Amino acid sequence: MPAQRITGGMVAAAGAIALAASAMADVQSVIDYRKDVMLSMAAHLSALTGLLAGEMDFDQGHVEAQATSLGVNAQLVSALFPPGSDSGETAALPAIWQRPEQFLARAEAAEREGRNLVAAVETGDREFMVQSLKRLADACRSCHRAFRSEDG
Ligand code: HEC
Repeated sequence: MPAQRITGGMVAAAGAIALAASAMADVQSVIDYRKDVMLSMAAHLSALTGLLAGEMDFDQGHVEAQATSLGVNAQLVSALFPPGSDSGETAALPAIWQRPEQFLARAEAAEREGRNLVAAVETGDREFMVQSLKRLADACRSCHRAFRSEDG
């Protein structure tokens, strides 16, 4: 039996497998980054809710920092779901890529409410801040209900 020769085809196949593996790793990095942004928004939202409840002695600088971080991260939401980032350890539902207009509408609503929140903080009006934060939290929930799986 002739000794096996390494052919160009075999090298190409090995290369394709390595490429596919690294593409999969990249997809999981995108998914992990997406979750980090989501988690950071949840943390800022919870921190700001606590501050606005008014039971702590932190100054306005804390309110501004939490609101700005939340508002700035909210601007990223529509870019967090590139095509192909639908498989791996993710709770993102396929509907995101099947009904992109509906998904984008929700992402843009959250982005808009994020900008409103930052504007509200700039006015210094507490009631306006509380209302803006509530509308942003509603925008988070509205998207999760439609586009995130419960158990992922
Ligand atoms: C346009 C849709 C959309 C909006 C708006 C949105 N999310 Fe999400 N969120 C998702 C999807 C989809 C996932 C699942 C992501 C995944 O597993 O890849 C998710 C996941 C999460 C997670 C879980 C992260 C993890 O570690 O698995 C948290 C927490 C979260 N979102 C918080 C928020 C908060 C807070 C807001 C609002 C400030 C928000 N999200 C706005 C769609 C959205």
